[in-house]
Amino acid sequence: MKMVLASRNRKKIAELQTLLGESFPDLELLSLDDVGFVGEIEETGETFEENALIKAQTACRVSGLPGIADDSGLAVDALNGAPGVYSARYAGGHGDDEANNAKLLSELENVPDEKRTASFICCMAVVWPNGKKVTVQGRVSGLILREKRGNGGFGYDPLFYYPPLGKTTAELSAEEKNAVSHRGSAVRELCRVLKDNKISG
Ligand code: IMP
Repeated sequence: MKMVLASRNRKKIAELQTLLGESFPDLELLSLDDVGFVGEIEETGETFEENALIKAQTACRVSGLPGIADDSGLAVDALNGAPGVYSARYAGGHGDDEANNAKLLSELENVPDEKRTASFICCMAVVWPNGKKVTVQGRVSGLILREKRGNGGFGYDPLFYYPPLGKTTAELSAEEKNAVSHRGSAVRELCRVLKDNKISG
């Protein structure tokens, strides 16, 4: 069984192949490059779910195979859910983690500790050639610190404090983060849903 992941990120593909492969040993995850798609997919959605569906639909359309995609980001309660779908480009340039974290700290400068609640959210979508689609969401809740802690992870991890473990997500090992993260939860939920659907569509 082949599926096309709407990504060119080899690390993301390998990680998902491992996680999904535990439940579906016959699943082979292909990338957009593997199916000869050279274009960019515009993430024009206003929600994580819309963006995941746009990406999964495109992967399906260009390959004729089931398409799979994820979209994730940080939602800060005191900022009405920002940076949300703009998480990667919050400070302007795409994926500038330093600038994004600096902007987040400055936006929250006058927000007291107890109001600095936030969640990482991950939506995953699968779209089949017959038009069937499923979406799932994973979430992890925590607090935004006033300074960075830890060297692991990426993005907003050094500012995202996870109270149950008393650490930021940048201080967790990959296994620890995967066990509690929005992405880990979304993948586990997707496995359950795909099993119920026998991943045939
Ligand atoms: P993507 O949809 O997985 O590419 O994530 C979009 C953006 O959300 C990233 O560039 C990060 O800024 C942020 N983000 C998503 N997941 C995480 C995470 O696990 N830790 C820290 N930042 C994240």
